[in-house]
Amino acid sequence: MRSHNGSNLRFTAKAVFVLVFAASASLAAEGPPEWAYGTRAAPAPQGKHKPHAAPDNGLKHVPGSTLEFTRAQINDPFGPADWFPGDHPKMPEIVAHGRKPQIWACALCHYPDGKGRSENAGVSGLPVSYFIHQINDFKNGLRKSADVRKKNTNLMIAIAKAMTDDEVIEAANYFGAMKWTPWIKVVETESVPQTRISVGMFLPVEGGGKEPIGQRIIEVPKDTDATEVLRNPRSGFIAYVPVGSIEKGEALVTADTSKTVRCAICHGTDLNGLGPVPGIAGRSPSYLVRQMYDMQQGSRKGEWANLMKPVVSGLSEEDMLNIAAYVSSQAP
Ligand code: HEC
Ligand code: HEC
Repeated sequence: MRSHNGSNLRFTAKAVFVLVFAASASLAAEGPPEWAYGTRAAPAPQGKHKPHAAPDNGLKHVPGSTLEFTRAQINDPFGPADWFPGDHPKMPEIVAHGRKPQIWACALCHYPDGKGRSENAGVSGLPVSYFIHQINDFKNGLRKSADVRKKNTNLMIAIAKAMTDDEVIEAANYFGAMKWTPWIKVVETESVPQTRISVGMFLPVEGGGKEPIGQRIIEVPKDTDATEVLRNPRSGFIAYVPVGSIEKGEALVTADTSKTVRCAICHGTDLNGLGPVPGIAGRSPSYLVRQMYDMQQGSRKGEWANLMKPVVSGLSEEDMLNIAAYVSSQAP
């Protein structure tokens, strides 16, 4: 940030900080944190916007791929673009194309390699039995979002309900065969780009400035166009976290404290999973917070999720933020 030389300006910056901080602190008491769920009651500040012209039918490219797709092909729910077929094993039909009418291709939201985006979930590298359990929990009403406005989780539930057991097993085996590798860079900072929300995902406002991070994690694509327009599965995310949050999170999850239970006991010493317990290291921090919050609220309450009850019941929103900052910064 540039340094200003008028005391008025400095005062304004401080006032804005206090306002933003107060706003995020009061949300904690009111319900699911907006920064983790990407749901917002009032319309977001939009900043400068590209005018909506005629539909874009041009062929798109991404670096390193010889393939080309139109925007309609990239976003086809029954066969989205696969930019890098060599980056993953051959996709089963349900992953590549889904099944009409209810089941959208898993590859649309979770990408062909299962890396996923901040508003959905990383699904590669999950234990097969855990994966199957989750789909069944979605099916049986045991896994919902604590924020009922979260549209894509509602879509996920509808998809799970329509899947046959064979389709579930095929998808679980496919994504489970791939390793979870680094995808989100965690950066401690005092200020973040101003953002808008696009279907649950935070995107920097074009031509927008910076604002104080406050008690939030702001997770954005490294390259907005590559993610929003092209769905490039080689272009990952940056998670901005408050200064000092990683260390606070580490203290919470590694020390013997009455607030929570050490994650390593069940998730493995490196937090990369243990038997049927999923890995959490290096995964999206906003996703991790949503899960902890959902479990605390009881909207995610499958048989195995009950093991997480003592872990999350005593955590504040700020504790969850710090834990997620630390866990996400750990190498998968
Ligand atoms: C419309 C986008 C969308 C599509 C298409 C989609 N999912 Fe999901 N999926 C989500 C969202 C959103 C979540 C939950 C995120 C949350 O809880 O905040 C999710 C979560 C999951 C999880 C839980 C991950 C975990 O770590 O517990 C699994 C497993 C999963 N999806 C499998 C699938 C499969 C298999 C398909 C294809 C048949 C599929 N999804 C298609 C959006 C989608
Ligand atoms: C007593 C064992 C146990 C401990 C201790 C534990 N977990 Fe878990 N955790 C589980 C199990 C089992 C699941 C799978 C739940 C399910 O199937 O729905 C899980 C799931 C999760 C999930 C959801 C993963 C996903 O992909 O959706 C998160 C996030 C999580 N744990 C975070 C933590 C953190 C952070 C800690 C430490 C502060 C922790 N857990 C400590 C057993 C534990």
